[in-house]
Amino acid sequence: MKIVVLTGAGISAESGISTFRDNNGLWEQHRIEDVATPEAFQRNPKLVHTFYNARREQLDNQAIAPNAAHLALVELEKVLGDDFLLITQNVDDLHQRAGSKNLLAMHGSLRESLCSYCKHTGLVKSPLSTDTVCPACTKKGGMRPNIVWFNEMPYYLEEIYAALASCDIFISIGTSGNVYPAAGFVAIANEAKAHTIELNLEPSNQNSNFAEHHQGPATKLVPQWVEAFMRDRMQLKH
Ligand code: APR
Repeated sequence: MKIVVLTGAGISAESGISTFRDNNGLWEQHRIEDVATPEAFQRNPKLVHTFYNARREQLDNQAIAPNAAHLALVELEKVLGDDFLLITQNVDDLHQRAGSKNLLAMHGSLRESLCSYCKHTGLVKSPLSTDTVCPACTKKGGMRPNIVWFNEMPYYLEEIYAALASCDIFISIGTSGNVYPAAGFVAIANEAKAHTIELNLEPSNQNSNFAEHHQGPATKLVPQWVEAFMRDRMQLKH
């Protein structure tokens, strides 16, 4: 029984991290083309650094912690081991802090830097700026957040497509289904004859492509689904 899970900003909402497209979301406060494209970084690196330094700083706020939905996915992974894969679009570190191991962060991570010149990645220890020197190639001015911007290729796609093509259950949690390639994952899972489930506060753009969908907060729906799955699995074993 192979399960692939995709998460989006909605799974971190109840931990206090704002989503992108809900009311008062991040894209209401900033234009994507000003802060989340390679062109924006070329044009105004200071604005892009300010935007990501502020989002990274928010992660250090003690009040921001993994919630019951993140933790339920860790329990599911403990039971399934390598038959479980978690793909996240999120760049916060809540899945990692919750203890998820089989995790692919396809849009990168706020906690990491990337050198535009030599592609060295490392953990961010202090706010990034145009003066940050790359520890690997010692060049300045090319250091950026290790975040996949619009028009850039997400990470791990080969591994992701292989997992989707061979999974039995695909569960999408807390994503509006607006941004490809993640929005197209349900179609691949359906082609693989997997059972597809959407757990989301409201129907996403891809809602009609799911065999099963439940509306509600992730901290309620995800633990509920995992508990029911574990119960069914126990009954099957006896
Ligand atoms: N529980 C479950 N779902 C929720 C909750 C919650 N508490 N709160 C919000 N949601 C849902 C919303 O209904 C919405 O469908 O989470 C989804 C969040 O959608 P977006 O803000 O569009 O975030 P996401 O889908 O992750 O965005 C995808 O777009 O901006 C890029 O790279 C960025 O990774 C991001 C990608």
